[in-house]
Amino acid sequence: MQFFHFHTPEQVPSSGIPECAVAIDVLRATTTIATALAAGAEAVQVFAHLQQLQEASQNWPASKRLLAGERGGKAVAGFDLGNSPLDYTPDRVRDKRIFLSTTNGTRSLQRIEGIPVVITAALVNLGAVVDFLRRGSFAEVWLVGSGWEGAFSLEDTACAGAILHHLGCSLNQLGNDEAVAALALYQTWQDDLLGLLRRSSHGQRLLGLGPENDKDLAYCADLDRLWVVPRQVQPGVLASGG
Ligand code: MLT
Repeated sequence: MQFFHFHTPEQVPSSGIPECAVAIDVLRATTTIATALAAGAEAVQVFAHLQQLQEASQNWPASKRLLAGERGGKAVAGFDLGNSPLDYTPDRVRDKRIFLSTTNGTRSLQRIEGIPVVITAALVNLGAVVDFLRRGSFAEVWLVGSGWEGAFSLEDTACAGAILHHLGCSLNQLGNDEAVAALALYQTWQDDLLGLLRRSSHGQRLLGLGPENDKDLAYCADLDRLWVVPRQVQPGVLASGG
């Protein structure tokens, strides 16, 4: 298997499509997606734009849908849920379709939705993702970070590095400089993932919005808490797979 890492959706090439791509948004979209599916949500359907989300959700029975949105780290007014994974409890989300839009994570999913196998990864479901990739033995895999509005984010690249580390990748399996740097970044911080999230610019942004968001950071840093692989089953729709 050969791995390429892209820091942001903007860096993803438009040609040379691989067999598999992994979307990563540790803070917090892919952590939330894994949490929602592990808690029994029917599926998570992602949208880059809030208006498209509202229109599509109207075609779903009201009792079976939840609208979830985040902009700038804050919940979207009038929606049922924001993007805190701690709010996605079984009582709240079981059997529901979650219509989700976030600042960056849902854009990266949209960028790779044409790739044959699309899954999402976060630190909370790292082991399940590593197991899925090992069993899939894909020739080429793209690890796509979400970043923040087009810029690099520490936590997504560390998660890409965690995947490479736990797969036991050798240097000749790393297809670009970004993958080499991701592996080194994870290996530097692997014993203090919560410290890395607190240090990251989006971690700082969330803490600036309220110290209670430290609970989200602690949850998002909790390696292997969930055994679930969110997998795209239709463009933009993720369900439990593996
Ligand atoms: C994003 O998509 O930018 C994030 O998930 C933001 C967040 O809710 O922390």
